[in-house]
Amino acid sequence: MIDHPLAQAILTTLRNRDTKQIEFRKGLVRLGRLMGYEIVKSMDIETVEVETPLGVKARGVRIRDLDHVVIIQVLRAAMPLVEGLVKIFANARMGVVSARRVEESHSPGSLDFDVEITYVKVPRVFGDDTLIVADPMLATGSTITAVLKHVLKYGNPKRIIIASVIATKYGIDRVLGEYPFSEIYTVAIDPEINEKGYIVPGLGDAGDRAFGSQ
Ligand code: URA
Repeated sequence: MIDHPLAQAILTTLRNRDTKQIEFRKGLVRLGRLMGYEIVKSMDIETVEVETPLGVKARGVRIRDLDHVVIIQVLRAAMPLVEGLVKIFANARMGVVSARRVEESHSPGSLDFDVEITYVKVPRVFGDDTLIVADPMLATGSTITAVLKHVLKYGNPKRIIIASVIATKYGIDRVLGEYPFSEIYTVAIDPEINEKGYIVPGLGDAGDRAFGSQ
């Protein structure tokens, strides 16, 4: 969990019902950037030497994995989050998946939904890649597991990272149950999912708030 005070403050703005569309999107962009910094912290570094303009050698670092990142954005709410992530992973290859939870598929007493995947455009994924799947709301895990099923047809990465803003324990357990080696980055873990599949207290419908009529 990303407990950096700035991330928590931005999340508080996102949760606030009075936050309007532009501020909301900007907040997601900023969180994407902060999440990128956190992900980089987990990457291996190697020591390198460079020569400065003074003709002197200086020791530094290189993060080889930075050049082996594939980012998948799950339309549409992930778009601002990805805008922030690519500020850090500037050389990332990108993929897009359009996924829709089928509201009618939700039966009483169950938290899970069917997910309709209507568009998949993903680059080849190599064994030394870090795959980052961005989706701000990890509620039941139905969407992310459906997306991963499609994306992993394009290759097996070295790491699978889910970049979310708010998750639930239910969703995390579901994703880790199906993809035990995946790693979940999130800014908050909320306690509930309501009967419509929304995270409570949550922040509402992230796609509507980022691109809706507010
Ligand atoms: N998707 C959203 O946009 N919000 C939620 O609370 C759950 C899923």
